[in-house]
Amino acid sequence: MTTKELTYDIADMKQAERGRFRMQWAAKEMPVLDLIEQRFKKEQPFKGIRMAAAMHVTAETANLMRILLAGGAEIALAASNPLSTQDDIAAALVSYYEMPVYAIKGESVDQYNSHLHSVLDIKPHITMDDGMDLVAMLHTDRSSLLEHVIGGTEETTTGVIRLRAMAAAGKLNFPVIAVNDAQTKHFFDNRYGTGQSTIDGIIRATNVLLAGKNFVVGGYGWCSKGIAMRARGMGSNVIVTEIDPLRALEAVMDGFRVLPMAQAAVEGHIFCSATGDIHVLNTSHFNVMRDGAILANSGHFDVEINMKSLTQMSTKITRVRDFLDEYLLDDGRRLYVAGEGRLVNLAAAEGHPSAVMDMSFANQALAAEYMLKNGDKLGNEVYDVPIDIDKEIARLKLDAMGVQIDTLTEEQDTYLNAWNMGTGH
Ligand SMILES: NC(=O)c1ccc[n+]([C@@H]2O[C@H](COP(=O)([O-])OP(=O)(O)OC[C@H]3O[C@@H](n4cnc5c(N)ncnc54)[C@H](O)[C@@H]3O)[C@@H](O)[C@H]2O)c1
Repeated sequence: MTTKELTYDIADMKQAERGRFRMQWAAKEMPVLDLIEQRFKKEQPFKGIRMAAAMHVTAETANLMRILLAGGAEIALAASNPLSTQDDIAAALVSYYEMPVYAIKGESVDQYNSHLHSVLDIKPHITMDDGMDLVAMLHTDRSSLLEHVIGGTEETTTGVIRLRAMAAAGKLNFPVIAVNDAQTKHFFDNRYGTGQSTIDGIIRATNVLLAGKNFVVGGYGWCSKGIAMRARGMGSNVIVTEIDPLRALEAVMDGFRVLPMAQAAVEGHIFCSATGDIHVLNTSHFNVMRDGAILANSGHFDVEINMKSLTQMSTKITRVRDFLDEYLLDDGRRLYVAGEGRLVNLAAAEGHPSAVMDMSFANQALAAEYMLKNGDKLGNEVYDVPIDIDKEIARLKLDAMGVQIDTLTEEQDTYLNAWNMGTGH
């Protein structure tokens, strides 16, 4: 669709006002972005810069877009998952910010890809990706556009893993900053954000009582740790599965039962995997699960539950609630999958609370600015967010929360930097 010069593809422009209200509500919890916006307005760091973004189209992302636009950027936005788009937010960005947005909740995979193509048509200087689908397309079907690109940023663990593999294979053509790896990102967004919003997604999809249920969490990484912590808080008996001995040990010491999935599969009432790995919940597990078991995924791609196998094993599949499908197996058992096996916190709920996205997206904004200033000095590698940016974001967040901390006294500074002050000084 085109209005004047503006091209976009969204579900329903009539939802724009609702979207704008939700953007404003989210902004109340995003004071760090506001501070950055004030500086961007004055300094215009993105003037003349074209950006292509593939992100979950949520109220929080819309606020990131708002501050990048305030900084002078020209941006096109597509979804980073076919089910994560909030249609009212997409409409608000088109209607009130005249942004080219290509995202519809429930779009087909073909439509999803064609939307990624559309944002790349902007011929980006900077890419902002969540899961690396945009960067992958840029290096394959759209490689003629690579000459314009200065660099990119990547939001999530799975994208960073893919990018590192690409850089190691010598295939990455521009530098990318791993926003996910900033401490002000994964300590908070992956753990507390995914923890809360995943539980929210499971509850909205099912409305089951979590208290007293055996809740099996696949993985004990940043996201899965948050899910385990919050499920326990709701009264579930949490069982963790892992493949890494250190993480498994941490789970044991945190007081969780740790089992192989083959055993956990028999015990679980609810399963949620967030590992970034494939087929964590697989055929052999479906075979032994109890009737009525609920399955969800909060990892980036819809690969953690083997949906193909589950579909083949089923004699009938019925949508029993919004975002909940019943899979009837040969032997009469019924398994329930939330959000079609896609990240449940975005498919069935609203994604992370704004307060954590405030920090994640402050990292995005400042990493993009850093890339513009320093991209020509960087190689075609994956870079960490500079520690000064990470600390500055933590400082701004604490200020905004009204929390004060100590600073080192001169004596303490000397002591911590001395090698010769041991026992008795
Ligand atoms: N839902 C969301 O909103 C959201 C937010 C952030 C990240 N993510 C995604 O969640 C996934 C996990 O991210 P993270 O930051 O927690 O990563 P992480 O690396 O900290 O943790 C992953 C954990 O899974 C474990 N693991 C791997 N394969 C396993 C298997 N077969 N069985 C059991 N455990 C296994 C690893 O040992 C590791 O401890 C990624 O795909 C990431 O992109 C989702």
